[in-house]
Amino acid sequence: MERPEYIPTDYNRIQVVHSLSDLFNAHFNPANLILFPRELEGDFDGLSRSLVKAWRRVSGTPKDVHLFDAGTVETLGGMEDLSPVQELALEHILRDMYEVRPLANVKPQLRVVMPGGYEGVSATAYRFHADRGRRSSGRVLSCYNDPVTEGIRNEDAIEFDSGDRLEREIFFNLAPGAAVFQLHKSDIWRQAYLVNDENVPPFIHRAPLAEPDGPPRLILTAG
Ligand SMILES: [Fe+2]
Repeated sequence: MERPEYIPTDYNRIQVVHSLSDLFNAHFNPANLILFPRELEGDFDGLSRSLVKAWRRVSGTPKDVHLFDAGTVETLGGMEDLSPVQELALEHILRDMYEVRPLANVKPQLRVVMPGGYEGVSATAYRFHADRGRRSSGRVLSCYNDPVTEGIRNEDAIEFDSGDRLEREIFFNLAPGAAVFQLHKSDIWRQAYLVNDENVPPFIHRAPLAEPDGPPRLILTAG
């Protein structure tokens, strides 16, 4: 099975699949990341700006991180005069949201993140970490536009304690000389949580830094 060139070679913690059903049929262990590499046509950057514009018009409230369900995405998209390529992007996202729901057995959300949007309460997203969650299927993610989530191999991750016992977060540093890899836009994947039924080491990742004047990031998240 062909592996994209942007993920580490000879690394068995990433399993590559080629359909949405395989994404959910695959099991963690040894993999902690099940990856379905895809390419989707459409203007996702333009769509993200349009969705934020519509949201601001109806709510009057600028947000750093928006969480929209499929119905809201559809409504906001319908409020703007979308170009045909933005419409195409919207169709891809809505199809994903409706198809992932029964497979993941949880309602997906579209997360629309402004550049630097995690800097408030979720600033830790920019450091290497593992997600906490309970679902044995892990968390489903897809980033529709750049920049996309970055990851490191478990053997390249050096755990350290943030020192803040209340925060109870575990962070990781990159081992000297080790490389960071970056997933690609339109890819959809499942990632294992910090604690999981398979006792597999979690997928260690961070949110990428976005250009300050870049488009909001569009991320599907389920679980
Ligand atoms: Fe995370």
